[in-house]
Amino acid sequence: MKILVATEKPFAAAAVNGIREICRAGGHEVVLLEKYTEKGQLLKSVADADALIVRSDKVTREVVDAAGRLKIVVRAGAGYDNICLDACTERGIVVMNTPGQNSNAVAELALAMMIYMSRNCFTPGTGSELRGKKVGIQAYGNVGRLVAAKAKALGMEVMAFDPFVPAEKMSEEGVTPAETLEKMYSECNFISLHIPATAETRGSIGYDLLTRMPAGGCLVNTARKEVINEAELEKALADRTDLKYVTDIAADCQAELNEKFGKRVFATPKKMGAETAEANMNAGLAAARQIVEYFATGCTRFQVNAK
Ligand code: 3PG
Repeated sequence: MKILVATEKPFAAAAVNGIREICRAGGHEVVLLEKYTEKGQLLKSVADADALIVRSDKVTREVVDAAGRLKIVVRAGAGYDNICLDACTERGIVVMNTPGQNSNAVAELALAMMIYMSRNCFTPGTGSELRGKKVGIQAYGNVGRLVAAKAKALGMEVMAFDPFVPAEKMSEEGVTPAETLEKMYSECNFISLHIPATAETRGSIGYDLLTRMPAGGCLVNTARKEVINEAELEKALADRTDLKYVTDIAADCQAELNEKFGKRVFATPKKMGAETAEANMNAGLAAARQIVEYFATGCTRFQVNAK
């Protein structure tokens, strides 16, 4: 089978070598499309692919339509909002992600962002420490749990909100379950977002929640830009001159935010949460193994679209 690795933002070379080895051992051929700049390049490359490995690359209906032989797509990562699940399901194409494989890298970045904002974006002046501060984790999944553990190690108090995780599980791990999102925002110096971009979450973080935060509150977004209501974020930052926003996924209006709010906002130049050698290895190799196993045994563990 032909396995296309299409990564606009490439994996580290060692991860690509690992993917090649796993696929070759399974009797498959790997074709690499890296740093592509136009959709047309992906449409062309996917035409004879049996399997596809992507990162945040957009697998739209048009891409699926162009992929006449495609049987499986694996998103090497957690969020699969970049893949048109309906188009894949209609064609009987299996879609998987690789949950947990890059979580540690993202969790470390979330903590780093908190420190960066607490230290005036590493410019001169008096900053503050994380120890003794309270962080609210919005969604206690793979990344959220790691952020919680690391925050506790730094002496932070940790609260979490996740309607899908039992409160007892959080308590057992030394995390205070928040009864409501509103309560969590009202009490926490930092809110760290770990929700996926879905119909329910898109635009869900806005003025009401943000302006509940205590003085100096900072929203940390290593999740998705789409979960933010950008107009309301801008208004919250304007009305509450103490609030801060740090993100790994620049807002559509980021240039405006930077200009208006200076050091109170920061966005990484390109999403870097999962940009570590370790995360590339973990997620890339997991994706390759899942494809090889699917072709060998039909195993659909980690399938995220309807069967
Ligand atoms: C994910 O959903 O796994 C992260 O957002 C990482 O995305 P990336 O592979 O594009 O860096």
